[in-house]
Amino acid sequence: MIAPSILSADFSCLGTEIDAVAGVGDARADWVHVDVMDGHFVPNLTIGLPVVESLLRRTDLPLDCHLMIDDPDRWAPSYAEAGAYNVTVHAEAAHDPVMLAKNLRAAGAKAGFSVKPGTRLDDHLDTLRHYDTLLVMSVEPGFGGQPFLPEVLDKVRTARRLVDTGHLRLVVEIDGGINADTIEQAAEAGVDCFVAGSAVYGADDPGRAVAALRERART
Ligand code: DX5
Ligand code: ZN
Repeated sequence: MIAPSILSADFSCLGTEIDAVAGVGDARADWVHVDVMDGHFVPNLTIGLPVVESLLRRTDLPLDCHLMIDDPDRWAPSYAEAGAYNVTVHAEAAHDPVMLAKNLRAAGAKAGFSVKPGTRLDDHLDTLRHYDTLLVMSVEPGFGGQPFLPEVLDKVRTARRLVDTGHLRLVVEIDGGINADTIEQAAEAGVDCFVAGSAVYGADDPGRAVAALRERART
């Protein structure tokens, strides 16, 4: 699956930017990735619930909300209640991640758990049994357009093994620095869903960029 990140889109016309990846066939995004940043958990500030609510009215593509915020226990369930398809919170920010996953699912969303590049997966394996998606960050969260950190692929391989042997049921997602050059190694390590911001919205034709990434991931 390919999930374009609108962090690199034109914020003055997000609706039409999403339309650009809502075409048909291989050019159609599977999910639209929405980066919510609060200026505390990460040193950058983006958009929040009101914009997500507007986007939900505008598109039928599933919204994959990546919350880079403090105290997601308090704020994340509203995104699920609003109708986001998947709501991802950070391991480094959640106070009671098991309860939070239950709340997200009860509100009708998939529950996502994200780890920053320096965060070990081993410390969170029990928690992951309560989640639907694992978002492995392949850059430090906060900004688009950073170079891919290949060392995080060990975590992808571990997660892939645990899923393939039936120990966990997770969609394995990767976020940061994914482009035509890096997507193959991520695919080989076992990623199911690739987030791409600058590689999609920095291209002249975002739909074609989605199709091209999909093609590279298959090879
Ligand atoms: C970074 C965000 C990413 C970002 C990825 O903190 O979580 O989703 O949009 O952008 P690229 O694909 O340009 O690295
Ligand atoms: Zn993201």
